[in-house]
Amino acid sequence: MGAEATTTAEASGPRYPAYLPHYDPLEKVIPVGPFEHDDPGHRAHPSFPNLLKDATKVLELSPHCGTELQGVQISDLSSAGLDEIALMVAQRGCLVFRDQKFTDLGFKKQKQIASHFGPLHKHGWMPHPKEGPEEFVIVYDSKDDLRIRKSWARKSPIQFHVDQSPESQPPGATFFCMLESPEGAGGDTLISSMTRAFSRLSPSFRKRLEGLTAVHTTANPIAREIRDNGAAANIRRPITRSIHPVVTVHPVTGEKALFVNSSYTQSIVGWDEEESDYLLKFLFDHINRGHDFTCRVRYEPGTVVVWDQRVTQHSQTLDYMAGARRHAFRLTPLANVPVPSLVEEDDGECQRDEGRMLLNLC
Ligand SMILES: [Fe+2]
Repeated sequence: MGAEATTTAEASGPRYPAYLPHYDPLEKVIPVGPFEHDDPGHRAHPSFPNLLKDATKVLELSPHCGTELQGVQISDLSSAGLDEIALMVAQRGCLVFRDQKFTDLGFKKQKQIASHFGPLHKHGWMPHPKEGPEEFVIVYDSKDDLRIRKSWARKSPIQFHVDQSPESQPPGATFFCMLESPEGAGGDTLISSMTRAFSRLSPSFRKRLEGLTAVHTTANPIAREIRDNGAAANIRRPITRSIHPVVTVHPVTGEKALFVNSSYTQSIVGWDEEESDYLLKFLFDHINRGHDFTCRVRYEPGTVVVWDQRVTQHSQTLDYMAGARRHAFRLTPLANVPVPSLVEEDDGECQRDEGRMLLNLC
């Protein structure tokens, strides 16, 4: 265990007290601001020789999303190995690593590894560790801190979303590190492929979506933070708002993905409210029902999950007992300005959909 973990933690105390959440209602953070994004996935070798050098098993979690790489230690990877994480996570949506030494590296080295993928986002209302960098987002659900549970009290705990999509340059490959998870089962993350969510729609419907743009805003989550915590609300940044394409293209793989989410996407630009609500409701339902393009990650202490926010959405499952401890941190590298998918007269999509061709449904 590293300097920031407690080796003699009582059974009832947190194992990583240095990573406990710190709330300061008066604190402000300065956003990263515009930057040139050079995606490390562009530099990666397509056969992943550095990433898979020590792999004992490569396990697909579902056909369209998720791969577990057994035997690989993130903290032992070279720069070329980290580049290959960027490419593989862009292709597979999420990667799962078990028993990671990364968990015990300490703030500085953890931040250094995540920064390989882009400048780290500073959250507007989620807590960071008291003595730790503001780029660390702490997820802590426990009998002594029920803020997270309270924030989900009046809605379904299943909410697929992209973290911080209202940023003008939203996140790419994101690190989620589990420090402590509830005893037994519970608190899994569902991760869903937005490339498959898009490609599974009918060709003419896909074409209707391409070229549209939508408003993303932090207004609702910030209003909920104030509703739940009043004067103790931790609002460190004003509301963030951006307009992004409804269908985006990943800058490394060139794959198209659906880029609207129920936490932050407010409306379709240029459409009447009824039209916009109707389309967004359909798309959110489509994502919520998409078990055929979703994987489910179960945690143990030391599990690190990397997901690419440009091609996935994720949801927590708040299914464990209230008061059980679930303690994790997230590091969130920002990436490119979303690339719009362009409407083409005939881009061959119909022919590329093997299922429809076989059934003669085009
Ligand atoms: Fe999230």
